[in-house]
Amino acid sequence: MSLQSSRGTKDLLPQEAQALVEMIQQASALFILYGYQLLATPHFENSEVFARGIGEATDVVSKEMFNVLSLDATRRLQHGEPLRAEEKMALRPEGTAGVARAVVQHKLALPGTASSKYWYVGSMYRHERPQKGRLREFHQIGVECLGAAEPSADAELIVLLMQYFEVLGIPMDAMTLKINSMGDDNCRPAWRAQVRRFILEHANGLCTQCQQRADTNPLRAFDCKNPDCARLLTQAPQITDMLCDSCLEHYAAVKSLLTAAQLNFVEDPRLVRGLDYYTRTVFEVQVDAGLGAQNAIGGGGRYDKLLEMFGARPTPGLGFAVGLERIKLVLEALGALNVNLPSPQVFVAAVDNESRSSAFMLCVELRRRGLSAEMDHQHRSLRSQIKLADRLGSPYCLIVGPEERAQGRFTLRSLTAHSEQALNLEEIVTVLNTRVSATSGNTAAKQPGGTSSP
Ligand code: HAM
Repeated sequence: MSLQSSRGTKDLLPQEAQALVEMIQQASALFILYGYQLLATPHFENSEVFARGIGEATDVVSKEMFNVLSLDATRRLQHGEPLRAEEKMALRPEGTAGVARAVVQHKLALPGTASSKYWYVGSMYRHERPQKGRLREFHQIGVECLGAAEPSADAELIVLLMQYFEVLGIPMDAMTLKINSMGDDNCRPAWRAQVRRFILEHANGLCTQCQQRADTNPLRAFDCKNPDCARLLTQAPQITDMLCDSCLEHYAAVKSLLTAAQLNFVEDPRLVRGLDYYTRTVFEVQVDAGLGAQNAIGGGGRYDKLLEMFGARPTPGLGFAVGLERIKLVLEALGALNVNLPSPQVFVAAVDNESRSSAFMLCVELRRRGLSAEMDHQHRSLRSQIKLADRLGSPYCLIVGPEERAQGRFTLRSLTAHSEQALNLEEIVTVLNTRVSATSGNTAAKQPGGTSSP
């Protein structure tokens, strides 16, 4: 049997990889407008980072983590020897815990300074049951803002998230923005206790996992996909009826700013999100087009206690992450995925064997001048080279033969206009650059702030 990629993982073939690159480029251009800087954390961390940050009782930590062990540690484990804490590592299931760890480790968010804003991109790993839009290795782009307690920071983050989706080509009316407040240490314990009581009182109508959640993490019951549980939990106590005054005020201010920014949202008092670090505002963006049950293309919220869990002084924080594979499925379903694999600006074709080294040197010179050039490395005939140039989508073929070499002027054939000119290297560069600036007018529409779809 030939080897295949692992279940739940995907090879990103050029078209797909290019779609991701474009999402990353658009994120980079947009996030700069909001003051975010790129931060890269390792793909694996000490497991404790995730257990402490995300929560031991979450599905992500208790069921879905990929542990990483060195060969030496694996052998010792097999011999019943205990592992040292620093030997227990895991692939990151999400980006927030690692960023929080890095921010504390490098003292990137100090009290009294302006808020620190970081964005990241990369693979995340969760051992979930693969299905449409749900992979075991997937790509996220995320942002984290540390040090900002005001509701305007929550609203800014949500506006950024929605603007990003719009820039990518997802129309506002295709998305549902759900928001909720999870309360804080003042009001959440009472809500949690009431939900626990509700679970115990209605245990007969709930799945065994939800029954167990009464003791581990009652709020996770709101995430249960079992339709009977979901139906019953609509009658469970709602956090929005129990928020303390300051959480209520914060939530009201966030909603009023979102309304001022003309964003439509739906309040969902059962939106709890799958990670334990959230306090106050949480949100999720759902789209039906192109997705099945896994219809969240992004989500996030506030986590005012997370940095303290990593040993920092009290530092509020908030962020979001989006799933690139899911966004791609949505764009495809909406007919808004418009990925163009780059074609060479010019194909340099040799008329005979003696001209091949000149063709090679012309390619080198053109690339040194910032132009993309391609040539044949398989001894094709001139006719086949021109055909290849056409197949690669190159608008020009630069023909090099004995005559051209003698005169230092090469035949630049337009494969679209079917015209030819004899030009020296500098003239060729000018013609190709003129074409670049004429066609780059079309790509301007892809920049953030533009309303046209990519
Ligand atoms: P999350 O909701 O777990 O949040 O993931 C964010 C997004 O990643 C989801 O909305 C979804 O689009 C994508 N995603 C999650 N799991 C998978 C999967 N198995 N396959 C494909 N896509 C997936 C977080 O990860 C938080 N760290 C977000 C955050 C940042 N909260 C605060 N700061």
